[in-house]
Amino acid sequence: MKKLFKFFLIFLGVVVIIILAAIIYINSSFPNIELQKDFKAELTESNIARGDYLVNSVSGCFHCHSTVDFTKFSGKIVEDAKGKGGRLYPEEGGFPGTFYSSNITPHHLKDWTDAEIYRAFTSGVSKDGHALFPLMPYSTYKYLTVEDAKAIIAYLRTINPIEADYPKSEFNFPFSLIMKTIPSNPEPIEKSMLTNKLEYGKYLVNIGACEDCHTQMDGGNKVEGMSFAGGFEIPMETGGACRAANITPDLETGIGSWSKEMFIKRFKFYENNDSLDVKHGEVNSEMPWSIYSRMTEEDLGSIYDYLRTVTPVKNKVSHFKP
Ligand code: HEC
Ligand code: HEC
Repeated sequence: MKKLFKFFLIFLGVVVIIILAAIIYINSSFPNIELQKDFKAELTESNIARGDYLVNSVSGCFHCHSTVDFTKFSGKIVEDAKGKGGRLYPEEGGFPGTFYSSNITPHHLKDWTDAEIYRAFTSGVSKDGHALFPLMPYSTYKYLTVEDAKAIIAYLRTINPIEADYPKSEFNFPFSLIMKTIPSNPEPIEKSMLTNKLEYGKYLVNIGACEDCHTQMDGGNKVEGMSFAGGFEIPMETGGACRAANITPDLETGIGSWSKEMFIKRFKFYENNDSLDVKHGEVNSEMPWSIYSRMTEEDLGSIYDYLRTVTPVKNKVSHFKP
């Protein structure tokens, strides 16, 4: 009996040492994303214009990096707070810590090199080397073409600097450790690939981070076989919660019966209706419709064409929970 106990103690000791070694290893070696020191974003007119389009119509950076008024349907970005950051994601909201979206105006980024900004939004590593919380969609922005990534940086250099700073983000153990292993190197798509309409649609869906909301997550991973099938629940400031829709081509529970025209119209409706009032407890949505509504009809059409090709999944979702 005594022998068995001794053996057990030794075994336990070895396990503790292995765990401690793993913690020290991850803590000191991750994230290990190299800075592409020569990365330069030229401040040309065409870069700035393309960046403006991507930030304000496709990638929705300001939906998270601004003050957003959720007394309006789908949230209205407060005009003079663009890029200011400061949206709070608290532990009480179900997050593994408490953090703010960062200020991405030149007030905060002026001392960052283009390479540092590129690494932050495509790999999830901040200027000082710490890993960013994956709510920041770097794992989809990593597919941005080099040209588009440069355009985004060029545009961000031109927006109004807004003086605002926030407390350092805090994450609980063990997520604080796991988080360090999530950043990965960018995998830029070749621009020449995007002459194919379907590929371009897929690209827009990626850099528009559609899947981030429209696929259910389990412990930080997408639920297998449920791509674009909706159901992901997001609590709303105006009360209740919204649930992302099933946007697979399933006829009954998805958008299989929608024509391309209907799809484009649904988005374009919000272009001139981005300030619809929502009272407490009424239906509201986290989907940034007013941002996406500014996409060209051609780009929305490409998104539609691509979504027709994803696997249809039967999953009935009610879009609002009172
Ligand atoms: C879904 C919300 C969301 C979207 C969309 C989003 N971000 Fe972020 N971003 C965040 C959050 C939250 C943080 C802070 C994460 C943390 O502190 O760990 C962040 C951090 C950053 C940082 C790092 C700043 C620093 O000081 O470390 C940069 C740069 C950035 N985002 C740029 C962008 C750009 C450019 C886009 C659009 C192409 C974008 N973000 C879209 C939520 C978002
Ligand atoms: C921040 C989360 C979020 C993101 C990002 C997002 N959606 Fe949504 N989406 C939702 C929610 C929640 C709903 C359901 C409520 C509503 O209709 O607004 C929805 C509804 C929809 C609908 C309506 C479906 C129906 O049956 O009425 C379509 C179409 C759609 N999304 C497409 C997209 C596309 C395409 C993208 C990317 C360009 C995208 N969404 C990005 C959250 C999101």
